[in-house]
Formats: sequence, C-alpha cells, structure tokens
Amino acid sequence: MAGPLRQRIAHLSDVHVLEGRSNQSEYSLSTRVVSFHRRLDGEARALKMKHALDSAKRARADHIVISGDLTELGTSKQFERFAEVLHDAAVAPESVTLVPGNHDAYDSYDGWKRAMAGPLRAYAGSSAGEPGLVLDRGGFAILPIDACRHQSIARSGGELTNDAADALERRTSDPSLRKKATIVVLHHPPFGNAKNPWHFIDGLRGHARLLHLLEKHPNLHLLHGHRHRMVDRIVLGSKKNRVFGASATVDDAPGRPRVRLYEVCNDTLESVGLAA
Ligand SMILES: [Fe+2]
Ligand SMILES: [Fe+2]
Repeated sequence: MAGPLRQRIAHLSDVHVLEGRSNQSEYSLSTRVVSFHRRLDGEARALKMKHALDSAKRARADHIVISGDLTELGTSKQFERFAEVLHDAAVAPESVTLVPGNHDAYDSYDGWKRAMAGPLRAYAGSSAGEPGLVLDRGGFAILPIDACRHQSIARSGGELTNDAADALERRTSDPSLRKKATIVVLHHPPFGNAKNPWHFIDGLRGHARLLHLLEKHPNLHLLHGHRHRMVDRIVLGSKKNRVFGASATVDDAPGRPRVRLYEVCNDTLESVGLAA
C-alpha cells in the first residue's frame, strides 16, 4: 500500500530578469557590464522563468522557492517584469518564497523593499522581509532571509546581519520547530573563508553564525543560489546533505528548465532530482 504523499518543494534560482527592450544597445551600461557574457534578451529570460514555473507546477510542488538574483539590477521595471511572469503562472502566492540576491540590490538600497510593497506585494507574507519570519507549511517551515546590501557592481557579496542571525537563533531554538524540517532560504551559500580576499568580494559576511546553527540543529537545511550550479553539501557532524544550491534559470537551454525538487520526510529534506 502506498504511504502518505510527501510534501514537495521546487527550487529555482538566478532568473536575472530584464525589462523588455527591442535592441541590446538600449540597455544601460551597468546592465551590459553585469550581463557581459549573457545575451541581453528580456523576452528569452522571461520565457525561461515561465518554463521553470510550469515545470514546478507539473511536479505538483507544494511550495516554490526562488533563491535570489530575481532581476539583473533590481530596477523597478525589472521587478515589475518579474512580477508579471510570476502572476501569470497563477501559483498561490502563499506557496511562493522569494529572497533577493546581490543583483536585486545593485540599482538602489531599497529596491527590494519597494518591490515587496509594490508589484510583489502578494508574495510579501511568504518572502524575505524583516528578520524572524517563519512560514509554517505544516510538515515543514521556511525561514526566508534578506542577506543583500546595496553595493557597487564590482562586488557580489552578501551579509547576514547580527539582527538576522539573532532572529534565526531564536527561531531555530523554538521547540515548535525542533521536530520538523526547517529550511533557511537565502541567496548566498553559507560557506567561505573570511581571510580569503575573494570572500570579501563575493562571500557571505556573517556566514560562520549560520554554519554554526546548521551544525547545531540536525533538522535545519538551507537552500541557496548565487553559484549558478547545483550544490549538495553536508555540514559538520551530519552525514546527509543539508545545504542545496540550484542552477541558474537564466542559463537554462531554451525549453529545458532545471528545477530542483525536494521531499519532506519527517524532519529531513531530501533532494529527489529535477522536475520534468
Ligand atoms: Fe546570479
Ligand atoms: Fe548572486
């Protein structure tokens, strides 16, 4: 006899949506610099996002996570375009978690906040905002984190602030979460070496506190983007993978979305491959 259906989470990342322009030369210099090795085709990128969302829906995901770099620069027009594609997918907003990536904070320090209050407001209740949000979805809980800061396009790092780390510590110690799969979602991976100059440019400041929490709580998992490739990592003291990174939707081949799927099994999140 078949067992109970496991809850399923779909994960995509790094969509890098552009506003629509008819000509590549119409994009700003900043856009051309940060996108230097990719075609500036707003419609193609929107279509890749649509295909990824369609794939997540076909997989009957109970929840969809998009782990940052939703847009190329975080301009109002790019957030509007991202919101249009997401709305058109007709997924229940409470079943979608969005977090910002470094690209979403290049244009302004408050672009994410304005997007959450504007075109993406339907998703604000289940997405990264003030520290401490817990989205309880029954068999699992999601803790979305905004770890991005406004910075020059020459840098691509993130920062887990003390406020965010304090809130995470409080939440993950809550007895109501100790027995269920609990999933932190943020853009940057929680690894790095603070003494390495590249970590200063591209790493997550404050990552040590996050790693410590992952080591302390065996039911805690983390979904991230930023690396533009699939990542499966264990943390110290654990034999199961608990840190998962997704590939970049912007790099998907046309019509061939790569959406990671996970299933919740008691207090554990298991990777079960890619959605069809
Ligand atoms: Fe990215
Ligand atoms: Fe990134």
